Amino acid sequence: MYLVNEERIKKLTAVLKQLNEGVTEEARREALNIVSNIDPIELSVAEQRLIEQGMNPQELRNLCDIHMEVLSDELIKLKKKIEPGHMLDTLIVEHEKIKEFLTELEAINLKIQKLESYNEKPELFIKLEALANNIIDAEKHHMREEDVLFPELEKRNITGPTRIMRMEHDDLRKRKKILKETAEKISDGNFTECKAVIDETAKYIVFNLRDHIYKENYILYPTALDAINDVSLWAQMKERCDEIGYCPFTPGK
Ligand SMILES: [Fe+2]
Ligand SMILES: [Fe+2]
Repeated sequence: MYLVNEERIKKLTAVLKQLNEGVTEEARREALNIVSNIDPIELSVAEQRLIEQGMNPQELRNLCDIHMEVLSDELIKLKKKIEPGHMLDTLIVEHEKIKEFLTELEAINLKIQKLESYNEKPELFIKLEALANNIIDAEKHHMREEDVLFPELEKRNITGPTRIMRMEHDDLRKRKKILKETAEKISDGNFTECKAVIDETAKYIVFNLRDHIYKENYILYPTALDAINDVSLWAQMKERCDEIGYCPFTPGK
């Protein structure tokens, strides 16, 4: 049974705050010490709490660097424990595809931001629409997480992280829709306004979806594999995933 230790989260949150106010060697050492000895999920909850308290996610960079030092081996360890075709393996492979889309989105947005008018390069907006559709096509990926993986974690009392992941899915669904709609209407709409919306939305999606994928790959999935210690249950979960279906970009599907 998994329970998040509220006291430890409070202590960690305080250290993280201190760290963000100025990275002194002492604060860094203290944070590294706590981060190395803490459950990754608790760390993730503490990070989330700072964001809820009004901290800009970009400001969590110092912490992220330390966090990444500690977590860098988690994905490698996880991949060694699962076979191709395991539902977590498929989700990880899909994450790689989604990250490729995000790199393309970042590049295309940079090009769009240099334009003065739609007619300069209309083809960029056709590409942007196609990319927005690709990102929206990840819906089946998120459904498999929400309807198959998360409920099994929640049954084991791992509810904080799944709540955060569900919230992020919903938030990103809205932004993806805005991106697609703006790409569709920019030819007839106000170019400057639409361009600004594309810039803000693309940057938001790139940053937050990368961060979301990172948390799942390095924290949530390794936790899931530890918590769900039953090969036949994983096989049943895979069957439920097959029923939900896969994304157009899922390799081998
Ligand atoms: Fe997710
Ligand atoms: Fe995911």
